[in-house]
Amino acid sequence: MQVPLLDLKQQYVTLREQIRAEVDQIMDSQYFIGGPKVEAFERAICEYTGANHAIGVTSGTDALLIALMALDVKAGDAVVTTPYTFFATAGSIARVGADAVFIDIDPKTYNLSVPALRAYLEGCKKNPQGQPVSHAGKTIRAIMPVHLYGLCADMDGILEVASQYGLPVIEDSAQALGAEFPGRNGKGSAGAMGDFGCYSFFPSKNLGAFGDGGMVVCKDAALADRLRALRNHGGERRYYHKMIGGNFRLDALQAAVLAIKLPHLDAWSAQRRRNAALYHEEFAKAGLCEKVTLPFEPYADSGLKNHHIFNQFILRVPDRDGLCEHLAKAQIGHAIYYPLSLHMQECFAYLGYEEGDLPEAERAAKETIALPIYPELTPEQIHAVVEGIAGFYK
Ligand SMILES: Cc1ncc(COP(=O)(O)O)c(C=O)c1O
Repeated sequence: MQVPLLDLKQQYVTLREQIRAEVDQIMDSQYFIGGPKVEAFERAICEYTGANHAIGVTSGTDALLIALMALDVKAGDAVVTTPYTFFATAGSIARVGADAVFIDIDPKTYNLSVPALRAYLEGCKKNPQGQPVSHAGKTIRAIMPVHLYGLCADMDGILEVASQYGLPVIEDSAQALGAEFPGRNGKGSAGAMGDFGCYSFFPSKNLGAFGDGGMVVCKDAALADRLRALRNHGGERRYYHKMIGGNFRLDALQAAVLAIKLPHLDAWSAQRRRNAALYHEEFAKAGLCEKVTLPFEPYADSGLKNHHIFNQFILRVPDRDGLCEHLAKAQIGHAIYYPLSLHMQECFAYLGYEEGDLPEAERAAKETIALPIYPELTPEQIHAVVEGIAGFYK
């Protein structure tokens, strides 16, 4: 049985009439940039995540970029982050001229390791203003954790370290809209726990647009105003620019589509969890639980329904590349997220990292594989995926 990694058409057909009517209305109005559709979707995201302010932007990448710009992170600064993530996390840091400081990951959750973060910052000198200075002599200005694959990083630990060092936290929540964290002081929603949260509506995300789209949420009203200006060339008043921003505006068309989809997001994420549970059963039945490492669900007993939203379903496996070849022949969808840790990327050679510096991120890049997990996947397809994998290890 052929199983695609993702099939967006199945979701679309269930919403086609509603979406087409909405798109028609926007076409008739010829109101494409900003306006009531964008504002309504921003309010819906605040309501959904508990964030104070939401600013629709062009993509998840631009959401990260604009958050850094709002904090005036620039050349001579550094931002602490994970090396095991999509390129945009570190790419946005480099684009404002700052250094990415990569901290190794926790091998079970694949998220930023809090003990490693703490150890790094403890080893930093402080400048006369009391800010930590990276080993390369750059002022550390922020921490940027990623909630990878739809699982929240340890935000209790990250926020504690951040407050100890007076650093703002920018949550890269591109893969985690709706994911919940059982915090010491109550539950938190991915993106709404730190100072900024950045979402991506790339079509393969749990909430996907019909193209690119993103959102920044933030706690502080003054920073929200700054973000609104920055997304519009830095102008608060038309044609008067106190700062330099860019065109980072979310389209009304995308906002309208996303607003139709948002009420379904929790149900879709629940179906992804149901699929994850089925994978667990199938792998157990196939006797593969010793062979492969299934995703860790550290908050499963927290009582939070969105303790994991499985944007991706990731296995750690022996002979990963051999398995990929086998699955490709069997026409079973799979992908590698991500084959090369960011500290080993050619474009970041100037940062001076060497192989072996961040061993858990390097190992994850060699051993992990993503399997189909989209909500409409059938039990038969899940069975076929596991059967395909069992065929390789038999
Ligand atoms: C962790 C992470 N950060 C940032 C992004 C960038 O989002 P976008 O593709 O919307 O620019 C993505 C999306 O792929 C992502 O997965």
